[in-house]
Amino acid sequence: MTTTTGAELRVLPSGGALGAEIRGLDLGRELAPEQVKQVRAALLAHCVLVFRDQRISDEDQVRFTSYFGRPVEHVRKQRERRVKEIFIISNVKENGEPIGALGSELIDFHSDLSYLPRPGTISLLYAVEIPPAGGDTQWCDGRAAFDALPPERQAELRKLRAVHRHHVDEQNPPEPTIHPVVRRHPETGRPSLYVSPHLTHHIHGVSEEESRAILAGLYAHMDQPQFVWTHRWRVGDLVMWDNRPTSHRRLPFPDDQRRIMNRTQIFGEEVVE
Ligand code: OGA
Ligand code: MN
Repeated sequence: MTTTTGAELRVLPSGGALGAEIRGLDLGRELAPEQVKQVRAALLAHCVLVFRDQRISDEDQVRFTSYFGRPVEHVRKQRERRVKEIFIISNVKENGEPIGALGSELIDFHSDLSYLPRPGTISLLYAVEIPPAGGDTQWCDGRAAFDALPPERQAELRKLRAVHRHHVDEQNPPEPTIHPVVRRHPETGRPSLYVSPHLTHHIHGVSEEESRAILAGLYAHMDQPQFVWTHRWRVGDLVMWDNRPTSHRRLPFPDDQRRIMNRTQIFGEEVVE
């Protein structure tokens, strides 16, 4: 509960492995450097931060994102983008055309843009429209999942690398993207598991059978309640997460209901072991 501006910023941890709510900030305004520092520290500690009841414009979201790095125009193009750093995640169709990406089905665990050599760092979603039920997002703590493994297993995994690939081939770079299975956070130094079913294709340099067994074991281990935290969205939520130590999964929702999210992203950082 420290601040230099008179406004109180409070961090309320979710009680799970990751996730915290931040109270006392209006993201529609410029933040003081001390506030940015506190948000960054909370993000490094809790990996996922929820800011409730925000009423922000596209420009506000881009400004807030830019406190933590350079918000980038997404690698995928989208029609009618007013603010180029905002990418729409939605199942809504207008004139038969989707206005955004990712539809209404389950999007299994992934770390954003891990199919790129320099993948996602921080992502932010702002909830514009939310269906009455379904469409929750879950985050897995790759740090806690790694820490919970026996030391011998940790040592084995540290030697492995994995090929990441997007299921739509044209999204992939010309050369295969290979990342360490255990990734070190460049700021905290903490190791975490960096594999996920949606975008990790196989373990590099082992048989297909062995790769499948290793990944299935890791996914079952990571998908345990003590490592996973679920966010039930409300309109006005802005959720910010660190993709380096986490993966996330979007649960399905009925396609006849509307879900609209505005996403900003920071990516392009080197992956370190
Ligand atoms: C994403 C994503 C999940 C969601 O935008 O990268 O995974 O809940 N979204 O919409
Ligand atoms: Mn994602």
